[in-house]
Amino acid sequence: MKPKFADRIASMPTSVFSTMGKLALEHKAVNLGQGFPDFDGPGWIQEEAFKAMKSGLNQYAPMNGIFTLRNNISNAFLNNYNMQWNPDTEITITAGATEALYSTITALVNPGDEVMMFEPYYDAHQADVILAGGIPTYVTLRKPDFSFDPEDLEETVSNKTKILIINNPHNPTGKVYTRSEFDQIATFAIKHNLLVISDEVYEFLTFDGIKHIPIATLPGMRDRTITISSTGKTFGMTGWKIGYAIACPELTVAVQKVHQWTTFAVNTPGQHAMAYAFSKLDGYLPDFRALYQSKRDLLFERLKETAFTPHKPDGSYFMMVDIPESAGEEDIDCSTRLVKDLGVATIPPSVFYSKSDEGKSMLRLCFAKKDETLLQGIEKLKAY
Ligand SMILES: Cc1ncc(COP(=O)(O)O)c(C=O)c1O
Repeated sequence: MKPKFADRIASMPTSVFSTMGKLALEHKAVNLGQGFPDFDGPGWIQEEAFKAMKSGLNQYAPMNGIFTLRNNISNAFLNNYNMQWNPDTEITITAGATEALYSTITALVNPGDEVMMFEPYYDAHQADVILAGGIPTYVTLRKPDFSFDPEDLEETVSNKTKILIINNPHNPTGKVYTRSEFDQIATFAIKHNLLVISDEVYEFLTFDGIKHIPIATLPGMRDRTITISSTGKTFGMTGWKIGYAIACPELTVAVQKVHQWTTFAVNTPGQHAMAYAFSKLDGYLPDFRALYQSKRDLLFERLKETAFTPHKPDGSYFMMVDIPESAGEEDIDCSTRLVKDLGVATIPPSVFYSKSDEGKSMLRLCFAKKDETLLQGIEKLKAY
């Protein structure tokens, strides 16, 4: 009999988020695993979506997104990072960063091309490369500060390597790459003539005054980088699935060749609401950052009352914690026991590593949660 399924999905496991989410529901667990807020996004943005719907803005949007959203994203990039992108030729609105990643990787990767990424990686990065027939290769970010060994970059690259994927601020570690790390990465990308896919969905979630640096703004990087971000993360409404890809015209045309056959266009009223939200970005950001920084601090401080040792994140809404060595337990067993016996869901990060075993000694927690959820979760973790 002919095989039912395409070879490229044969090795694709069910995502850890589905597995953990199911267990969390079954055991009515406090969910510190799921990577999205358990509270609602701003009502003033929702009002704009209602207004757009009521005024008849309900048919297909243009393939690359409505102009005001592209224009306001371009203005936000200029105000925050001092780089100009042409909203007509360099910005594409996509169905979440997820679709931007898929369209970009599908547009650029030929079967057999190697794509380098840092591990722990965001699982879609690896999956998209495999779906495109590419070969993922890995450079490990090592504890305690999740830095990389520059020699690892040179050891991992080959003449088949076409792309380097980075994620900054980083899920799952909360790492924010330093300027000097970025200088090394940029020099490396230029030396080996690599394209860079830069997933920056947590660009506005940096703490303690740390400033986000898009790698596209480094010398020699603009025309080789595709910057991907997500209004869902920036405005706390992940379910709207509105993301974007920013790149030079040549790369934008390539991304849009896949985008046009994947989703073609993204929901219209949501785009109008997000265009409005971007026009208010400067006023919105200080409270947004302060809210998440207070949640990070709450979780970090209170975790000290548990057996788990947290690594303080500089960005994103994730925190890695070390499983106590004395427990003699690896992440998958530990997180399974936590959800089943103690009623708290976490994510076992070893699934985000393919080369190193480092992930087995940690768990990933998400602090995009109501304070009461965080406190309930900590109470449960104390029982470990
Ligand atoms: C690093 C990273 N990239 C992309 C995404 C997906 O973004 P979106 O919800 O806009 O598709 C996520 C969501 O968790 C993420 O953490």
